[in-house]
Amino acid sequence: MKNRSLIVYYSWVGNTEVVAKEIHRLTKFDIQKIEEKKTRKLGKVAGAAMGAVFGLKSSLKPMDFAMEGYENIFLGVQVWAGKTAPAVNKFLKEASFEDKKVWLFITKADEKIPQQVIDSITQRIEKKGGSVFDSMAITTKWDPKTNIPIEPEDVQEATHEWLQKEGFLEE
Ligand SMILES: Cc1cc2nc3c(=O)[nH]c(=O)nc-3n(C[C@H](O)[C@H](O)[C@H](O)COP(=O)(O)O)c2cc1C
Repeated sequence: MKNRSLIVYYSWVGNTEVVAKEIHRLTKFDIQKIEEKKTRKLGKVAGAAMGAVFGLKSSLKPMDFAMEGYENIFLGVQVWAGKTAPAVNKFLKEASFEDKKVWLFITKADEKIPQQVIDSITQRIEKKGGSVFDSMAITTKWDPKTNIPIEPEDVQEATHEWLQKEGFLEE
């Protein structure tokens, strides 16, 4: 199971990265970061939100979109203006999801479950032959002035519980 699962994530402020690294710490699954080619300056929130609202796709640094050899994909994303970030839009367009089983982990500032984002990602993955098995959404504290990511301790319990429920951890 270990070598057949990949954690792939995008993170601007660092919250989703904290969750991705926690999943990696618990499972030792391979881990890969989605990175934009351009430098996105922290705090430039309006431009970022606009990109999400209009469904833009940004250029990414070279990465393997084939995900060959992996059966399970843990995809880490966040909510931007009720939608997905341009880097995530690009990844979902380019990546090959044929026969992949996908688990979504999502960070966001709102308390409510980001159902719209879950549905929109699920649709895009299903169109490409993949299936979304489950999702976990974690609420973060977000201050666009300081941009300090959450602490690993803030996500440990939820992440552990989720991985165990989904059968990725030994008892
Ligand atoms: C441009 C922008 C727009 C956001 N819009 C929302 C939103 O509509 N709803 C929400 O719950 N959180 C929103 N957030 C908060 C982020 O989803 C949250 O801080 C997330 O953990 C950021 O992920 P990251 O640290 O991995 O980049 C927004 C953050 C940014 C930067």
